[in-house]
Amino acid sequence: MPSDNSLNIAPASVYDYRKLAQKRLPRQFFDYIDGASYQEKTAAENISAFENLQLRQRILRDVSNIDTSYQLYNEQLAMPLVLGPIGLSGAFARRGEVQAAKAAESANIPFCLSTVGICSIEEVKAATKAPFWFQLYVIKDRSYAIKLMEKAQNVGCQTLILTIDLAVVGERYRDTRNGLSGNSNLLGAIRRGLDIISHPKWVWDVAIKGKPLTFGNLLEAVPDANGLKDFKGWVDSQFDASMTWDDLDWIREHWKGNILLKGIMDVDDARQAVKFGADGIIVSNHGGRQLDGVPATLAVLPEIVAEVNKQCQVLVDGGIRSGLDVVKALALGADACLLGRAWAFALAAGGEQGVRHMLDIFQSEMKVAMALTGVNKVKDINQTVLR
Ligand code: FNR
Repeated sequence: MPSDNSLNIAPASVYDYRKLAQKRLPRQFFDYIDGASYQEKTAAENISAFENLQLRQRILRDVSNIDTSYQLYNEQLAMPLVLGPIGLSGAFARRGEVQAAKAAESANIPFCLSTVGICSIEEVKAATKAPFWFQLYVIKDRSYAIKLMEKAQNVGCQTLILTIDLAVVGERYRDTRNGLSGNSNLLGAIRRGLDIISHPKWVWDVAIKGKPLTFGNLLEAVPDANGLKDFKGWVDSQFDASMTWDDLDWIREHWKGNILLKGIMDVDDARQAVKFGADGIIVSNHGGRQLDGVPATLAVLPEIVAEVNKQCQVLVDGGIRSGLDVVKALALGADACLLGRAWAFALAAGGEQGVRHMLDIFQSEMKVAMALTGVNKVKDINQTVLR
């Protein structure tokens, strides 16, 4: 009997990539991706909200010309999808952010580099031609934040995702248990070491050939860092809990392109975001990694879409695991979707090819969902495709 996490067949879905990632990664990194905060209820609800929403099957509507393409800002995309910001991806596969950015480029969708990526802005730029997006955490060291924005703009990034749901960090029990966060003792260090050496393929591919495992964008901020823990310590000390809406103006002063505010879960905040002049908002609960016990993103999406009333783009993430889910999110009014764990699993399992293949799967699934609900174009996806 194959064990629960074995998969000896070709991956056909994001869930298969999850299983492969579980096999390939040291447990501490798999749990870092798969885990969420506290009881992980919100993370689970993000997924079940999609499962509980039903599509409306239609027939005989000439769906011979399905087109998933979509224009987002001034970019003509193959589909309304973005590889959302995921920190530490270079620990999932060798130079992981570069591999993911290349996959996104060949699939013709944007890749968004996290502040806390292993690969730096410059490294991703050197490996790709298409403009990528940059995600910024609002850190206390404003001069460093400005430096990062300048770097990103200098290499042609036009869209900034400003993540604003991390005033404080939600505790992720799995990371604490695995010693990735909090204090760990000698026993914990030994366990972590054993976890690493029991994954020799990962050790060779990532820990040895994928060096340096540092936070590429933060090297100048933490010059004496002695490993990922030191970077993480710096980042954790930098989240600015005193930040308010008034502080966003200085971001506008330093960023000339689009600004998307990520982490909106409430209509009042959506209204404020429009007032601020955001080019877009991302309805997100950080994949259930921050405040456990908040609703699924899909549950709050319709009221936020109504509040925004087309004054800026509304993107959504959280629990999106298939092209069918993308169609459901668009049906509830999202303009586009961000993928999180979906691409992290595919990257861990199969590198650039894995992410590319996963995006092909998403596109095929979108096409089937569109055809069988009777729509040919992304702009025609609305409530009528839902039961
Ligand atoms: C994240 N997320 C995240 N968000 C962000 O703005 N900056 C970051 O560096 C990270 N890092 C990160 C790491 C990992 C491992 C995960 C799973 C998530 C949140 C991410 O962008 C997105 O909001 C969620 O992942 C969406 O939920 P799903 O699709 O993963 O369920």
